Amino acid sequence: MARYSQKHTLIAGVAVFALLGCLSPVLAVTLEVKDGNDTCIKAELLANLSVLYSVGNGTRMALMNLPDSAEVGKGSTCGSSSVAPMLVATFGNGHSLSLNFTKNMTLYRVDTLTVAYNLNDSTFFPDSKSTDTESVSTNLTGIQAQLNTTYRCFSASPVAMPKVNVTFTEMRMEAYMQSANLSKEETICTADASATTPAPKTTPATTTAAPTTSPGTPVQGNYNVTGSNGTCLLAKMGLQLNLTYTSTAQGKLVQEILNVQPGLVRASGSCGSTVATLSLTDELHFNLNFTFNLNSTTKKYHLGSISFDANMTDVTAPFHVVNNSLNYLRGTLGKSYMCSAEQTLLVNGNFTVNTFRLQVQPFGVNNNQFGAAEECQLDEDNMLIPIIVGAALAGLVLIVLIAYLIGRKRSHAGYQTI
Ligand SMILES: *[C@@H]1O[C@H](CO)[C@@H](O)[C@H](O)[C@H]1NC(C)=O
Ligand SMILES: *[C@@H]1O[C@H](CO)[C@@H](O)[C@H](O)[C@H]1NC(C)=O
Ligand SMILES: *[C@@H]1O[C@H](CO)[C@@H](O)[C@H](O)[C@H]1NC(C)=O
Ligand SMILES: *[C@@H]1O[C@H](CO)[C@@H](O)[C@H](O)[C@H]1NC(C)=O
Ligand SMILES: *[C@@H]1O[C@H](CO)[C@@H](O)[C@H](O)[C@H]1NC(C)=O
Ligand SMILES: *[C@@H]1O[C@H](CO)[C@@H](O)[C@H](O)[C@H]1NC(C)=O
Ligand SMILES: *[C@@H]1O[C@H](CO)[C@@H](O)[C@H](O)[C@H]1NC(C)=O
Ligand SMILES: *[C@@H]1O[C@H](CO)[C@@H](O)[C@H](O)[C@H]1NC(C)=O
Ligand SMILES: *[C@@H]1O[C@H](CO)[C@@H](O)[C@H](O)[C@H]1NC(C)=O
Repeated sequence: MARYSQKHTLIAGVAVFALLGCLSPVLAVTLEVKDGNDTCIKAELLANLSVLYSVGNGTRMALMNLPDSAEVGKGSTCGSSSVAPMLVATFGNGHSLSLNFTKNMTLYRVDTLTVAYNLNDSTFFPDSKSTDTESVSTNLTGIQAQLNTTYRCFSASPVAMPKVNVTFTEMRMEAYMQSANLSKEETICTADASATTPAPKTTPATTTAAPTTSPGTPVQGNYNVTGSNGTCLLAKMGLQLNLTYTSTAQGKLVQEILNVQPGLVRASGSCGSTVATLSLTDELHFNLNFTFNLNSTTKKYHLGSISFDANMTDVTAPFHVVNNSLNYLRGTLGKSYMCSAEQTLLVNGNFTVNTFRLQVQPFGVNNNQFGAAEECQLDEDNMLIPIIVGAALAGLVLIVLIAYLIGRKRSHAGYQTI
């Protein structure tokens, strides 16, 4: 059914090369403040900073991000009766990002965000007029959460200060922690909530699923499995989960559309000669397994099983779904299966996985590279539409041209007879 295409081998090869060459996946930075053995603040986040600084003839903008190598630095503290808890992330050549927390009976929040930057660091501030370390801060971060819950904000949340803008993404953070792990209960920021939560309860309170707004197209992640013989399963795809569950808060079935955030997911798995498994784990939330089977007689593989487990706070029973009789993503040993179009993998009535820009190869991977791509029917159909439209347009142009030529010949002939 699927068509073999040499062109895609080349494109996939170049893409893999480019990815290996320059784009290692961006991982959230994890920072932890401890007092002895007790963790009091933990943050997983990405942060981008833009800093305006003066040079000889004007100003320039420096762009920095909080690197993986950022550390919990001096000044970090769990606090005491007179000192507020503080997380100081130090990075690079004398730069830092500090979060100072306060709480009341019900909420905790970031009271002050401070950014200190060393203008003497010519990597970021070439030609800077000053060589001092400057610092700016603000009390308006909008970061607050219920006590004993994790503040979650995957959406980009910008914080503006004089000369400096900080944008946090993929953020999960908790202060005043009661245990070493982030709380499973979450306070979801407004930006995330408007992207994923069900619409307000305007429908009658029956057991009907509430409609959801879509969080948009998910980011494409690279998820590979490496066994004792090297990388044995390659996958890149955007994943969107569509779950229906009984909400304890709302007392009825609700629907949630969740985009898998590649930066927050760990890929693992196993590869056998006829069974290969890709497991995606988001430590606090879910575990999603894809199991591929190879028929060694026909040399064809397919996605035979999906299982999904999630720990959600708003659910009456833990969410567990498995279907071992699937037959999706069918390909040939040594080749990859590719589908750029959105595909819906139905697992059961309560759970579907939507895939976007997918390419997988669960067996016969050589040198970390995808084999020739076999494209899904959806993509071929999508390619057919422009061809049909193009052909129709060409036909139309031809008809008009012929009609014009005939018309011209007739009127010409007419003039001659008069
Ligand atoms: C921290 O944990 C270690 C090992 O678990 C233990 O030996 C040590 O006494 C603990 N320290 C404190 C201050 O609780
Ligand atoms: C400032 O100086 C730099 C390098 O000397 C030059 O490239 C840039 O165009 C100048 N900008 C202005 C606004 O004069
Ligand atoms: C806690 O602070 C929030 C805002 O910072 C406020 O709305 C709330 O009323 C406060 N709660 C208590 C119990 O003081
Ligand atoms: C948070 O947890 C602690 C310890 O379990 C408890 O004493 C406290 O009342 C909790 N606070 C809130 C607001 O739930
Ligand atoms: C690794 O490669 C060897 C030799 O090709 C093979 O015998 C063995 O089964 C492979 N192991 C796995 C886990 O694929
Ligand atoms: C989610 O699943 C429900 C029920 O299976 C379906 O009606 C809805 O269209 C799906 N939404 C998306 C975005 O896939
Ligand atoms: C759910 O929580 C339990 C207990 O806290 C834990 O053992 C399990 O691994 C969690 N599952 C997932 C999918 O995170
Ligand atoms: C492999 O495919 C053949 C032909 O479709 C089928 O008869 C056979 O049962 C399959 N083998 C396995 C192990 O599924
Ligand atoms: C498993 O998936 C197949 C194919 O999508 C479907 O026909 C079947 O109903 C599913 N099984 C369950 C228990 O939902």
